[in-house]
Amino acid sequence: MTDVLDSAGPAEAEAGGDPRTGASRSTRRVRIGVLGTGGIATIPEGVLPNLHHIADKVELVAVADLDLERATRVARQYDVPECYGSLEEMLETADIDAVVNLTPIPAHARTAMQILQAGKHLVVEKPIATTLKDADAIIETARAKGLTIICAPPDMLFRSYIEARRLIAAGTIGKVAFARVRSSHGGPGGDPQGWPLDPSWFYQAGSGPLFDMGVYGIHEITGLLGPAKRVSAFTGITEPTRTVRGEGPFAGKVIDVTADDNCLFMLDFGGATFAVIDGTFNVLATRSPKVEVFGRRGVLNVYGPDNLDHPGGDALDLFRTDIAPGLDGWVSPESWPQIEDERRALLERAILVDHLADVLLHGEANVLTAEHARHALEIMIAVTTSSREGRVVELATTF
Ligand SMILES: NC(=O)c1ccc[n+]([C@@H]2O[C@H](COP(=O)([O-])OP(=O)(O)OC[C@H]3O[C@@H](n4cnc5c(N)ncnc54)[C@H](O)[C@@H]3O)[C@@H](O)[C@H]2O)c1
Repeated sequence: MTDVLDSAGPAEAEAGGDPRTGASRSTRRVRIGVLGTGGIATIPEGVLPNLHHIADKVELVAVADLDLERATRVARQYDVPECYGSLEEMLETADIDAVVNLTPIPAHARTAMQILQAGKHLVVEKPIATTLKDADAIIETARAKGLTIICAPPDMLFRSYIEARRLIAAGTIGKVAFARVRSSHGGPGGDPQGWPLDPSWFYQAGSGPLFDMGVYGIHEITGLLGPAKRVSAFTGITEPTRTVRGEGPFAGKVIDVTADDNCLFMLDFGGATFAVIDGTFNVLATRSPKVEVFGRRGVLNVYGPDNLDHPGGDALDLFRTDIAPGLDGWVSPESWPQIEDERRALLERAILVDHLADVLLHGEANVLTAEHARHALEIMIAVTTSSREGRVVELATTF
């Protein structure tokens, strides 16, 4: 491996480089390869269209995709110097420090292991893997090789969640009784705009809304309240087929739904603190907050980008008891510290790569750890077990 942190010698460090790493200013860029050039790689809120904002920290060296034609087209569009038809070729040839893994969910574990075994740092889309055995192996390999893993989703980097976490930890809403977490959308290919690639895999075994969407809510609520202890769930298939809507290349395609597309579950955090979460492809629209946390002294709401224009006008709302003598009420948004998140708005999904660069180059703490992702995965697996076996499932992992 070429380690980005050791890429310059002491002479360069003396010439004004980073004293901790010995890297000179001119060499302090993380060289990346992007694996998978589909939806999340190329949509406007995806990775490639937003990497140019962090060109001072990250150098995009290569892209790779099993569909070489697509990779070539994408490489041309984003001026990427190198383009490969497989991960193996990219790992063998490209001079990179890290791989950003944007493959479909069933491919995450195998490709993540290959990337780490080749000595490259890893950014990986969610979930980290689909079995705990694979997640353990990924974590162990990274640890043994001293590599960093950044796992989507990026929500705990967002200012609204950082602020919500701070407020809850400070006791602002008192003891948390329960939370309601919304973590669904209407399903890939369900929008009138259509879908650029074939969305079938999202509905089939090895994927489904739990891995694709429920994972957000799990990361959010465990990011706010800490690891959960037990899971209880109902899951099922709403309708046996879905038809891709809109005008895109797959419009009208009928998809067999073989993964549960309707998952509702509860988490027990201990001490009579609970959360209820939906992870479905059945929320066509909603006006409810993304996360509502009900405490004994107040209520905290976190809103998502889909309803930032809620009546409070901010990404957080707070209700408190005793805001004045004899008075409970909503704290007006004007009295809040501004939590508008320019970094999130600017970088979109490239925020994952930005975080990797900050961890590697500036020694920032990793907020999106593989251990958190493994705990989230254990919850997702427990959801399926709980539903199939009709029982509460105890959790063993933590982060
Ligand atoms: N599409 C979205 O809006 C979105 C949003 C957030 C996160 N994600 C996550 O991003 C990941 C990818 O989703 P997507 O929608 O971009 O999928 P996609 O099907 O649009 O694209 C995946 C790409 O990866 C390529 N690929 C598949 N297996 C590969 C392999 N072994 N090696 C190299 N390339 C391979 C495919 O050819 C395809 O081009 C998933 O984990 C998904 O959960 C997607």
